[in-house]
Amino acid sequence: MKTLSFSFVSISSASPRSIPAGSANCMRRAARLTRRAALSLVAGASFALAAVAPCPPFVSAARAAETAPAGTDTRSEVVVRGEYLARAGDCVACHTAPRGKTFGGGLAMETPFGTLYTPNISPDNEYGIGKWTADDFFKMMRTGKSPDGKLIYPAMPIAQYTKVTREDSDAIFAYLKSMPPVHQPNRKHELRFPFNQRELLIGWRSLYFREGEFQPNPSRSVEWNRGAYLVEGLGHCTMCHTKINLLGGSSKSEQFAGGLIPVQNWYAPSLTSDKDGGLGDWSIKDIVDLLQAGISDRGAVYGPMAEVTYHSLQYMTDDDAKAMAVYLKTLPDNDPGRKTGPSATVKPAVFETGQRIYTDKCAMCHGEHGEGKLQHYPPLARNQSIEMDSAVNPIRIVLNGGFPPGTRRNPEPYGMPPFAQELNDADAAAVVTYIRTAWGNHGLPVTAKQVNELRKAPLR
Ligand code: HEC
Ligand code: HEC
Ligand code: HEC
Repeated sequence: MKTLSFSFVSISSASPRSIPAGSANCMRRAARLTRRAALSLVAGASFALAAVAPCPPFVSAARAAETAPAGTDTRSEVVVRGEYLARAGDCVACHTAPRGKTFGGGLAMETPFGTLYTPNISPDNEYGIGKWTADDFFKMMRTGKSPDGKLIYPAMPIAQYTKVTREDSDAIFAYLKSMPPVHQPNRKHELRFPFNQRELLIGWRSLYFREGEFQPNPSRSVEWNRGAYLVEGLGHCTMCHTKINLLGGSSKSEQFAGGLIPVQNWYAPSLTSDKDGGLGDWSIKDIVDLLQAGISDRGAVYGPMAEVTYHSLQYMTDDDAKAMAVYLKTLPDNDPGRKTGPSATVKPAVFETGQRIYTDKCAMCHGEHGEGKLQHYPPLARNQSIEMDSAVNPIRIVLNGGFPPGTRRNPEPYGMPPFAQELNDADAAAVVTYIRTAWGNHGLPVTAKQVNELRKAPLR
């Protein structure tokens, strides 16, 4: 892990595209699902969540009314709305430890600077937020400061959550208060000097934290504004889908332009209209399907994105998923990088080896011409996420295999077996080169060395 980037002091020795990402996870209910992506980064630091957390139960509004202390909004419609919004924010993924109790915290987030442990945000009076008021909670969401004035590390998506409205913050708080308290102490972060000095966050904040509620754009539709609010705010999509500069932040123009998640080594593609990666050719339906179902005519989710779909996006209503897609479709292409063009010429021997392996091991699912078999096997032809300049994703999925998440719209996903054992570095490189350049795909060839380096990448 070469990236040494902490917001305010960050120096990235990795590629300029490497960014911190943020995310999380929880245990797949379906036992056959083995993928364990989990990680999280921050606008400045990269954090790999070390484990898989259990999925939270649906809240029972009746129970909510019994346990909430006086002064908290216990109206069931507010609690239910809060649960929905907490899902949109994916709080459970980070604030629940593997096999731990929901919102009990304790999830380890590995970083190059040490380990952060997420705090207990259950309504426990001693260790959780039991004594917080709705005001305290809202101030934390808006300002990124704890009630005691402590600056919060951006491993918590404060730069995004600051956009959340008071009303939504109150509903999330009501929901959290309705959950059972978890009497479990917080673990202290194990960050190295100087990263353990919270005061240093002042520097990061002055550069990258812009406090303030989401401001609707009056020249856009209500739907667009709803999508923008969810994507930029609770959804904290930019935590992963943005590259960071050398100071560990990202300029406005780089928002959504894609970036490598360093600890985990997955690449979160551009969500702009860029044609190298990017959603420029995607229809609204393609985007909605991917977010809600985890699979679309354009591809399937895997790695950290599968976790996001699993814990969060599959629960978005049709209206909200569409609003997010409508907003994403309007993101301008600010990436000066390479655009669609002819494939690089690949050595014929490599192409032929790749083709032979593909026909032998891949075509039964992905089709002879990479057309896929919808809805279970994603197409590989014209699939930007495998053509992008970064070859990390296709290499990793070939080595590790994958399972799209079981979602409400796709409850019985079909998986892909791992090929790490079966294929040596040269053969894996050949087949990845083949799928990146065949059928009019315009990706660049990959080398055996690139494959070899990714064999060490953490599985989750
Ligand atoms: C990407 C991981 C991540 C996500 C998603 C996330 N958090 Fe956090 N959260 C953290 C970390 C890490 C901390 C501890 C930061 C610190 O110590 O400065 C934290 C801190 C907190 C705190 C405690 C502040 C304190 O002073 O004790 C609260 C409350 C909180 N988060 C609530 C939420 C809520 C509500 C959501 C969903 C809307 C959420 N978090 C989503 C990682 C996350
Ligand atoms: C048994 C069926 C099966 C076989 C065989 C198979 N795949 Fe897959 N492949 C899948 C499924 C299912 C997914 C979706 C996985 C996920 O979302 O986690 C997938 C996903 C992919 C992706 C990511 C696509 C995207 O949406 O971005 C790539 C690249 C890929 N496979 C390449 C290959 C290659 C190369 C081979 C042969 C070495 C292969 N697959 C063999 C079923 C298969
Ligand atoms: C934890 C990091 C993380 C977060 C948070 C995250 N993503 Fe992703 N996303 C990824 C990664 C990694 C990929 C590539 C793997 C794949 O295609 O599933 C991806 C892929 C995608 C794709 C497919 C793009 C393509 O070209 O194939 C879309 C669309 C997408 N994400 C939308 C979103 C939206 C919208 C949000 C916020 C609600 C979001 N993501 C939040 C990591 C993340």
